[in-house]
Amino acid sequence: MTRSCMVFYSALDDFDAWRTALEPEGIELCRSEDITDADRVRSALVWKPPQGFFQDFPKLELVVNLGAGVDALVGRDDLPDVPITRLSDPRMARMMAGFVLFAVTRYARDIPQFEKAQRDRRWHYIHPKDPDSITVGVLGLGELGLEAARECSRHGYRVLGWSRTRKDVEGVSCSSGADALVSVLSRSDIVVCMLPKTPDTDNLLDAAMFRSMKQGAFFINVSRGSVVDEPALIEALASGWLGGATLDVFAKEPLAEDSPLWAMENVLITPHLASIALPSSAARQIGENVRRIARREPVLSRIDPQRGY
Ligand code: NAP
Ligand code: GLV
Repeated sequence: MTRSCMVFYSALDDFDAWRTALEPEGIELCRSEDITDADRVRSALVWKPPQGFFQDFPKLELVVNLGAGVDALVGRDDLPDVPITRLSDPRMARMMAGFVLFAVTRYARDIPQFEKAQRDRRWHYIHPKDPDSITVGVLGLGELGLEAARECSRHGYRVLGWSRTRKDVEGVSCSSGADALVSVLSRSDIVVCMLPKTPDTDNLLDAAMFRSMKQGAFFINVSRGSVVDEPALIEALASGWLGGATLDVFAKEPLAEDSPLWAMENVLITPHLASIALPSSAARQIGENVRRIARREPVLSRIDPQRGY
């Protein structure tokens, strides 16, 4: 019997690191250009593969999205009719929570003001606030959102969490549904967006939503740029309604050279790297799912293409 293999595609991730990590799982990872017998390909590990990528592999049984957000896959029309899974990895969630905590702390501890004062060689004392007096609103309480919300709570912030369906999380005051969003935004000093890109979240945070935030509040987006009406955000930042923003993701990436965001003093831009897929820890879940497919059992972390995440 011929041995099956998994085809790999990512313009960002390290093929050799993934191949090494998947070996102990009994998975042979191949680059598409090295495959001579397409029938051997039974699974795919992909991040934003080019259109038409899957049509060369008629025996595919599983598609593994090389990341948490699956929007680049579910939004396309050339998907094979097989289970699609996302990476679900506590270390990926921890990395994201670390980034969110950094961004929240930067605002909570007035760091942008000290950066400015340092440029002016100015000793600018601001008495630190008790974290308990600062409310952080986390939009999206999924695998990464929940970990970030808990991390903020562990550091003493008051945390409000918002999701599609109601959650019960210790240390996080949870609400759900469209009607509760404005309430979360209006009570938060810092809002963290951790919502996936879906038809329901497209441009969800528009001018009216930014207006409903407290004057001087801060905004952090680490999920997808599409959730935000970018011109409305720029306007809210330029007018001073929002105190500042940390933006890791954008409507169009890379961010255009002529975007006004680059020059805004109250904006910190990072190039979509708040968290990444880590081969050494994520390989086990991939191995488990390949074994489940072989046993004809349901896979873990299967996404729902209709729902979009
Ligand atoms: P997830 O597990 O898919 O959870 C998504 C959360 O959003 C869930 O709580 C869900 O509610 C909520 N949600 C979805 N649609 C909603 C709606 N219309 N209204 C209210 N809540 C809604 O996602 P995750 O693992 O936490 O990751 C979040 C996102 O982070 C990913 O989708 C990806 O885009 C992004 N990401 C970014 C980076 C980066 O480096 N910047 C890295 C990894 C991931 P329910 O719980 O009720 O379903
Ligand atoms: C990265 O953005 C991911 O969704 O994993």
